[in-house]
Amino acid sequence: MRVGMLTGGGDCPGLNAVIRAAVRKGEMVSEDLFVGFRDGWKGVVEGLTMPLNVEACRGILPRGGTILGSSRTNPFKVERGVERCLETLAAFEVDALIAIGGEDTLGVANKLGAEGVNIVGAPKTIDNDLSGTEVTFGFDTAVQICVDAIDRLHTTAESHDRVIVCEVMGRHAGWIAVHAGIAGGAAAVLVPEVPFDIDEICTNLVLRHSRGHFASVVVVAEGAVPKEGTLVTSSADVDAFGHARLGGIASMLAPEIEKRTGFETRATILGHIQRGGTPTAFDRVLATRFGVAAIDAVHDGAFGQMVALQGGRIVRIPIAEAVAELKTVDPDLLQVAELFHF
Ligand code: F6P
Repeated sequence: MRVGMLTGGGDCPGLNAVIRAAVRKGEMVSEDLFVGFRDGWKGVVEGLTMPLNVEACRGILPRGGTILGSSRTNPFKVERGVERCLETLAAFEVDALIAIGGEDTLGVANKLGAEGVNIVGAPKTIDNDLSGTEVTFGFDTAVQICVDAIDRLHTTAESHDRVIVCEVMGRHAGWIAVHAGIAGGAAAVLVPEVPFDIDEICTNLVLRHSRGHFASVVVVAEGAVPKEGTLVTSSADVDAFGHARLGGIASMLAPEIEKRTGFETRATILGHIQRGGTPTAFDRVLATRFGVAAIDAVHDGAFGQMVALQGGRIVRIPIAEAVAELKTVDPDLLQVAELFHF
């Protein structure tokens, strides 16, 4: 078969492992030919391709990022975008397309599937917010990066008797924040799912310090929001999928905490560090399993399906189900984090 492959949306560690696995199995077992589309859906709209075969995938397993490149291009927002995608796929004689992405990339995949394109999805995102899969690759790596950073922030916070507000990614889901917060021993974890009360946070910090602590790390998800009317936050630009470009809440919170508690407070925004570099062993294994499962799905004609992890096993679910609603943080997990808040 001629199989197209693309990686869309924010990159994440493990993308190369998926590409390598799908290409390895496709080429070695079924003699598939691959077409690498560059920069996500942009490559399909504009016909931008690169050679993709076992040779091109040598050495990429531990490499972060994606050899295919990525973008947030939405063909449904580009003039004649969908027609151009169909034309490109016909021109390159693509029998099936593997789209590796999160809710936006797979949302496009779902809609193009309805236009007759044979698509299989593979779930990626550091945010871990895709429904239907217990976890997405990239998440474990991002959490580990955050925990390493929080451990380091703890030692400097202790030296200076400070509070440090550490901002992590996750968009509208607090998975990274809550996992990193629990693993890093955060004194507070603020997630988008539960609007925070700045006074409550400060009361807890004061209580915590009165009990002998002299330093605290507060983990805040970039998409965390204050309870209505309690604090003013700034608005942000939106991307081609209508998502606000987040970031900066830690810088807004730090002076507020300092003002209310009297504790010297600093902000650290981890930003894209969370998306860079080599994937953890867990993410390499998961991504490899997804890659193999994706090419298997292509050969089974399981189009419109996304490979997913459920109960430790790789399954297929409709892409439509995966993108129907965001997978937000389990309230039980938040309760575990809260136990350590003061
Ligand atoms: O979806 C992954 C993610 O890293 C989010 O956590 C974050 O809000 C966003 O992408 C950042 O996007 P960009 O790389 O376009 O700034």
